[in-house]
Amino acid sequence: GEIEGRLYEPMKKHTTMLVGGPAQYWIEPHSFYGFAFLVDYCRGRGIPVRVVGRGSNLLVRDGGIRGAVIHPTGGAFSEVTIDGKGMVTAGAGVRLKKLASVAGGHGIGGFEWMEGIPGNVGGALRMNAGAMGVETFDQVVRVTFLDEDGVIRTREREEIVAKYRNVAELRRNFALQAVFKGKADKPENIKKRWEDSREKRKNSQPIAASAGCIFKNPEYIAAGRLVDSMGLKGTTHGNAAVSETHGNFIINQGGATATEVLELIDSIKAQAKEQRYVDLETEVKI
Ligand code: EPU
Repeated sequence: GEIEGRLYEPMKKHTTMLVGGPAQYWIEPHSFYGFAFLVDYCRGRGIPVRVVGRGSNLLVRDGGIRGAVIHPTGGAFSEVTIDGKGMVTAGAGVRLKKLASVAGGHGIGGFEWMEGIPGNVGGALRMNAGAMGVETFDQVVRVTFLDEDGVIRTREREEIVAKYRNVAELRRNFALQAVFKGKADKPENIKKRWEDSREKRKNSQPIAASAGCIFKNPEYIAAGRLVDSMGLKGTTHGNAAVSETHGNFIINQGGATATEVLELIDSIKAQAKEQRYVDLETEVKI
């Protein structure tokens, strides 16, 4: 089938935090045209549309999502191709880790920082995901997206404004595919950077279910350090807990609800404001 779907699909199955109620329509298009058709169909009927990839930076409420949740996967969405000049083309449904490993396997380095990011290409473009001092748009050459009028377009890197964890243009324009640039390198160098990234991450981030960092880093202090300095690591609320490993992660200790996670977020925000006069802004989409 070109397009597959299910009714009332539990979103806890599709988020790395493992929380969230049902999506009214969960739909999986396997081609750009299937995706364009669905978005046009829903918009024309006033059905709310959300696009969800790996669900790694997403917190879905316990009441679920009304309308259509489109999950691009299969076909061109899942392909990674290499052109030999250090250019890598990847569909929105490709895991960043896969992009990095396919590129590395072809002797193209620079993507190693992606090894630990649990998201897909589409989400990484939308939020300009980053780690180890590198951001997605540092390596983007061009992006193909579905625009607000339902037309598939391609835009060069210079034409797109990418900020820290936010690419406003990809809010209602949905990324379908992108071309990234890396650098030809020796396999041992690529392997070394991959291992270094893995090692650093394993020592500083939890392995339990989470949505990655909960807050954007404010200007003057890393959110994780701030939460840590307020003594909040290890705080639990129901089955949700502030990670002992990293203060900017909330982990699901098993069976947590979205409400528990949201209340824990609100409580951290309130304390940061009262005690440190800092307005924390969530990085995860709610
Ligand atoms: N720190 C503490 N206590 C903690 C956590 C951190 O004191 O509990 C200190 C660290 O020692 C360090 C500083 O805070 O001096 C920054 O910590 P870290 O190096 O872990 O980086 P971060 O700013 O907290 C950012 C990204 C991560 C990314 C890491 C590694 C944001 C919000 N977070 O975290 O991205 O993996 O760098 O490169 O920008 C994500 O976006 O979901 C995410 C996890």
